[in-house]
Amino acid sequence: MTDTPTLSAAAPGERALEPSAMVIFGASGDLTHRMLLPALYNLALDRRLPPRFAVVGFARTDWSDEAFREEARKSVQQYSRRPLDHAVWDSFAAKLHYVSGDYADAEAYKRLNAKLETVQRTHGADPNCFFYLAIPPSTFDDVISRLKDGPYSRSQDTGRGWARVIVEKPFGTDAQSASALNSLIHSVFRENDVYRIDHYLGKETVQNILVFRFANGIMEPVWNRRYVDHVQITVAESLGVGSRGGYYDQTGALRDIVQNHMMQLLSLVAMEPPIAYDGRSVRNEKVQVLQAVRPIDPQDVPLVTARGQYGTGWVAGEETPGYREEPGIAKDSTTETFVALRLYVDSWRWADVPFYLRTGKRLPKRTTEIAVTFKRVPHLLFREAIDVPYLEPNVLSIRIQPNEGITLKFLTKTPGPPLRIRPANMDFLYGASFLVQAPSAYETLLQDAFRGDATLFTRADEVEAAWRIVEPVMKGWASMPPPGFPNYEAGTWGPEVADELIQKDGRKWRRL
Ligand code: BG6
Repeated sequence: MTDTPTLSAAAPGERALEPSAMVIFGASGDLTHRMLLPALYNLALDRRLPPRFAVVGFARTDWSDEAFREEARKSVQQYSRRPLDHAVWDSFAAKLHYVSGDYADAEAYKRLNAKLETVQRTHGADPNCFFYLAIPPSTFDDVISRLKDGPYSRSQDTGRGWARVIVEKPFGTDAQSASALNSLIHSVFRENDVYRIDHYLGKETVQNILVFRFANGIMEPVWNRRYVDHVQITVAESLGVGSRGGYYDQTGALRDIVQNHMMQLLSLVAMEPPIAYDGRSVRNEKVQVLQAVRPIDPQDVPLVTARGQYGTGWVAGEETPGYREEPGIAKDSTTETFVALRLYVDSWRWADVPFYLRTGKRLPKRTTEIAVTFKRVPHLLFREAIDVPYLEPNVLSIRIQPNEGITLKFLTKTPGPPLRIRPANMDFLYGASFLVQAPSAYETLLQDAFRGDATLFTRADEVEAAWRIVEPVMKGWASMPPPGFPNYEAGTWGPEVADELIQKDGRKWRRL
């Protein structure tokens, strides 16, 4: 059975996809179920899979090919953004195969390699291969060490087809473990073949930050310390920790959100214009931002950071339990579910412009936003027209999700005399402007990996630089007396210490 090349449709200017197989480690897990299989299916629906493609799932669960296909069907029915089309499903399901085994068992890898070879031959999907690590970090070592002994280790150097690895977060737990993991991966794969996922980079609105900044001539001249007063980045979630207590209680908001998603947003907002839109140029500029973030002195941690943990409260009209009452959480847990911090990027562009970051679970609503607040006008003409001593500044807010869009707040005269001034908004809404459903982050990222384009993936030096920013905070907190948690009610905007953090600079958090 050989697939027909018509399954992939490259748009003009796009790199053609090469035949390949994908081994998914963790094929019976939650990520595969909720994200990967629905994303692969949607790519099949859009004819955006490689021309000859096959999947070999690998996990401990004892399934046959048929059982894996049945589970995959359920995943698609439950999580696909579009309904199941029977003809497309049948052709997609035929590409799915499965091998069960333990991640540390050498025999299991013999079975996997044998199956992979047969599957690649049958589907015409050789010689290239992806290895998707949708597994807990505790098993990375086993899997990567086994791959090292397999036929795909450094395969490009031996003239075999390419082998790429896709790695899920969390990538290490600090700079040292991230660097050790990088070394382990590099013993099997070249950096160019490593795709570290940060799903925020697959979001349309996150990619649009670069387009907005660098495709519009009016932005660049004002995007600097001369015009910008400060930047606020918010990642707010209304959900609690849910069923992920075991993982989250070991992780906390700083590692779960700040080190990865928020550092990505920060680097995209603060980066210099790259010389080209390609993986090397874009990531060179992003990493420069992270390297320019002023290191936090552990002694200053109480002054420039705030942490919180939610107690019981009300969210969207429902009473919700406190963090310590959630399943899998220690009754005396000191893990933070909220973080606020102030950073500086020490560069010509951003010297002395504060970047305020805040993230939390069980906040009043789910919203991710980057707000650039511009400086006030230098001279007040309209003293009589306002009730306050100064005019409100212009704010540009980039809404990553939901209500994806961009709003510019400006001041305007109200109709008629006497002269009065009020804020108004210029609003761009993705949904209303384009009327099409965007692909999921995973569809975008998988497709880029198929094309060999790593622009939207985190590079080794980037991930290590991001850890170096948050590490002093981890150390500072560890050396402080245990925090008085819980310190914010579910359904509120976090602890008072977070308000104090920004208020002492004469500013306030945006009301979202
Ligand atoms: C994940 C975190 O990386 O991102 C979760 O582990 C968090 O705790 C999620 O809920 C948020 O992603 P999104 O796309 O819903 O903003």
